[in-house]
Amino acid sequence: MQNPFAYSNYVTGESFCNRKKELSELLKYIKGSQNVLLYSHRRYGKSSLIRQVFREIQKKNLNIYVMYVELYGTISEKDFITRTFQGLNQLESNFEKLLKSVSKAIKNIKLNLSIDSATGSTLVAPSFEAVNEKVILEELMNILSKYSQKHKLVIAFDEFQEVANYTEDGFEKRLRSFIQQHSNICYIFSGSQQHLITEMFNSNNRAFYKSAESFPLDKIETKHYIPWVQNLFSKQKVNLSADAIEEIVKKFENHPMYIQNFLFHFWERPVKKGFSPEIINEVENAIIEKRSLEHTVLWETLSINQKKTLKLILLNNGSNLFNADSLKSVSLKTGSLVTKALSSLMKKEIIVKNGRYLIQDVIFKKWLQKTLSL
Ligand SMILES: Nc1ncnc2c1ncn2[C@@H]1O[C@H](COP(=O)(O)OP(=O)(O)OP(=O)(O)O)[C@@H](O)[C@H]1O
Ligand SMILES: [Mg+2]
Repeated sequence: MQNPFAYSNYVTGESFCNRKKELSELLKYIKGSQNVLLYSHRRYGKSSLIRQVFREIQKKNLNIYVMYVELYGTISEKDFITRTFQGLNQLESNFEKLLKSVSKAIKNIKLNLSIDSATGSTLVAPSFEAVNEKVILEELMNILSKYSQKHKLVIAFDEFQEVANYTEDGFEKRLRSFIQQHSNICYIFSGSQQHLITEMFNSNNRAFYKSAESFPLDKIETKHYIPWVQNLFSKQKVNLSADAIEEIVKKFENHPMYIQNFLFHFWERPVKKGFSPEIINEVENAIIEKRSLEHTVLWETLSINQKKTLKLILLNNGSNLFNADSLKSVSLKTGSLVTKALSSLMKKEIIVKNGRYLIQDVIFKKWLQKTLSL
């Protein structure tokens, strides 16, 4: 059997563990055409959850049309429009039909056709010549609105925080004014840069203020990992005990991507080598080693006080950072230096505050512990 574990892209099907509660909640919002703000730390599984819920919708023949738009790397309104236009392909299996519906819905713009070099399928995009982007956005929204008159629609804008960086005046406001009218469409706005995305929806001076149901995505619980891992390994005739899986999950602090990363490498090992704490350490070290260059680069971008503050967090398990002895142990002169460094580290999403301060990326934490000889 092919290795079922994957960690560099979204996962669905048997590589997707549980999330039953999240799937049913998301489906409830989709059915009710309630907009959703799906957010989490990096690599917790937002894109996978969206793809999986889309699969369920199609498998159950729910008669809801699905459209996924990846906004990562878009830097302008024009890019946003182009990507969303390309997404229209997902609404029709037949290109002629798509072209007919799109042509019927537009009034003021011309279309360009091109071939997608990756998939060989035909792509439809608006011609930006001689027409203002505002007009094209309006026409695009009109196409979506027309579709939604016949079918319920769910449209996921993944990495939606990119929109906050566009420099066009009033884009968020214009987009919001169209979306507001689409009562038969559920929009899923998804993103990982929490300060950016939550600011877009939680600040009362922003266009998207309170316009979507907040949907924070957490890690996956240990009790859900156990049967999922056992079942996949049983296909390779390997019996993993619940205790062993618990140990792995704990080691990677329930982080979905790192657990898959570990299991991928573990699966590749000869079965006869079995399972032992040494093997767990061996695989773990290989993972830390693989990412060490990336972590070295990150470390070098930090100021000396930020570095000291990270050490302070590790030494004190994230609490009592301001007491005199703690400060002295990392040669930090004042608490205000710590306050400033904590704020920068949180902005960079290197640390999070959850009662105490925690280093967000478990592999970075392990790399730090090694590098700082803690
Ligand atoms: N339900 C799941 N079951 C098992 N593994 C998962 C699950 N969801 C995500 N993962 C693991 O996490 C990795 C990242 O998933 P995904 O790309 O969906 O996360 P994301 O939150 O969209 O990430 P990003 O912040 O980069 O956009 C996947 O490659 C997979 O290894
Ligand atoms: Mg993603």
